[in-house]
Amino acid sequence: MTQPVRVAVVGLGFVGLPLALTYAMKGASVIGIDIAPHVVEEINAGRSHHLESYQGKTLPEILREQLDAGRFRATTSYEEAAAHVNAYIVTAGLPVHNGDPDLGPLKSCAQSLGSVLKKGDTVMIRSTVVPGTTEEVILPILEEVSGLAAGKDFYLTYCSERIAEGRAFEEFIKMPLVLGGLNEESAKKGEELLSFISETDVTISSIRIVETAKVIENIQRDVNIAMVQEFARFAEAFGIDTFELIKVANTHTRVNLLTPGPGVGGFCLPNALYYLQPKAQELGVGLQLLQQARQINDGVPDVLVGMLEQALQEQGKNLRGSKVAVLGLAMKDFSNDDRVSPVHDLIARLLEKGVEVVSYDPAVPTSYGHKADSLEDAVRGADALFLTAVQKEFAEMDWTALVKQMAASAVLVDTKNRIPRELDGSVKVVRI
Ligand SMILES: NC(=O)c1ccc[n+]([C@@H]2O[C@H](COP(=O)([O-])OP(=O)(O)OC[C@H]3O[C@@H](n4cnc5c(N)ncnc54)[C@H](O)[C@@H]3O)[C@@H](O)[C@H]2O)c1
Repeated sequence: MTQPVRVAVVGLGFVGLPLALTYAMKGASVIGIDIAPHVVEEINAGRSHHLESYQGKTLPEILREQLDAGRFRATTSYEEAAAHVNAYIVTAGLPVHNGDPDLGPLKSCAQSLGSVLKKGDTVMIRSTVVPGTTEEVILPILEEVSGLAAGKDFYLTYCSERIAEGRAFEEFIKMPLVLGGLNEESAKKGEELLSFISETDVTISSIRIVETAKVIENIQRDVNIAMVQEFARFAEAFGIDTFELIKVANTHTRVNLLTPGPGVGGFCLPNALYYLQPKAQELGVGLQLLQQARQINDGVPDVLVGMLEQALQEQGKNLRGSKVAVLGLAMKDFSNDDRVSPVHDLIARLLEKGVEVVSYDPAVPTSYGHKADSLEDAVRGADALFLTAVQKEFAEMDWTALVKQMAASAVLVDTKNRIPRELDGSVKVVRI
């Protein structure tokens, strides 16, 4: 861009904060807008619980550098941001409640943006949305509130967000991008904004295609994992190792099976079907295979409880009344994000069955009644444990020493292929 980039990133969560800092590190003048005052306060104080890092620096270190350099600050005020910027990148998400996506946060962003939008501004939506949302929901709000015409007075684009938590900084720069523009001029503005930080080619298509592509990219992973769960049930019944089976099948250059685990978690994959579903219903299109895959993945915590119950019985113990340690609450390995984590479902099922559950996850900051402060507290005297998400502490664990702290004839259920198959004495290791 010939003009200095002055951009506001709307929503300062797992995506928005590292995205804002990436722009700042490249020299842009960046304002982060978040509706939550505590988020803004914490960020402006140079604090963050996010685990991202880049070129040997942690996110809080990068944050403090950019705050000190005056290239980044956070605010709750759209007006304050509007006085400084001419481009907005929106990253507020659509939470899903009982299978229904909530467009409330995104509509509220559009309302607030509409009230401060100026001629010549660019709006880029990077949230994952119900296909059609940018043109059918956001555009009318922006035009009505601002009194400006999209594509003429201001530019509207959609660019799907493809980063994986834990690799955000690197992937903002290296991950291939797809972009939709309301018109050619909008796409051009969007491309300029992206190319300030991205080193990859940008594929330009229509907004509707880019919105839909994002959702189906996530759904294909959900379906792949559901398929692998069925393969895992077959492997268990057949007496062969699931992880070895997948490793062998994946040596085929056109096969890419994902690994099973305690279910599918996180904000992205489990929600994807619920973003496609409302549009499919409106269009009268059936999604039977995709819905069944979702059900299979939602059912994994029940499968795990069944496995544990059987293994405990074989050890002469009952599930009811047993103490079970659950190691790893995060939605995936080495993450501190436990939103929509299947481990919460697993714990709920265990509690329903009368199990005493003690969980432990050194990376997840959220408090829960069942969460212990140390590994020792979680496993002491436990009849069984689940390994449900890997954290550094678990990856470096001496399992032989750990089982000595558990009750005799303990059961270890390994959903991550990390626990040695043979452990001393009467311990039983079960692997999904
Ligand atoms: N987390 C990921 O790894 C990831 C990856 C790819 C895509 N996505 C998508 O990116 C989007 C953001 O995800 P996230 O994980 O960063 O979510 P998040 O919940 O961590 O962050 C969203 C932020 O938006 C703020 N917000 C809500 N309403 C607002 C408003 N009206 N004005 C200003 N701020 C507002 C919230 O306070 C919150 O801090 C979602 O659509 C998600 O599906 C996320």
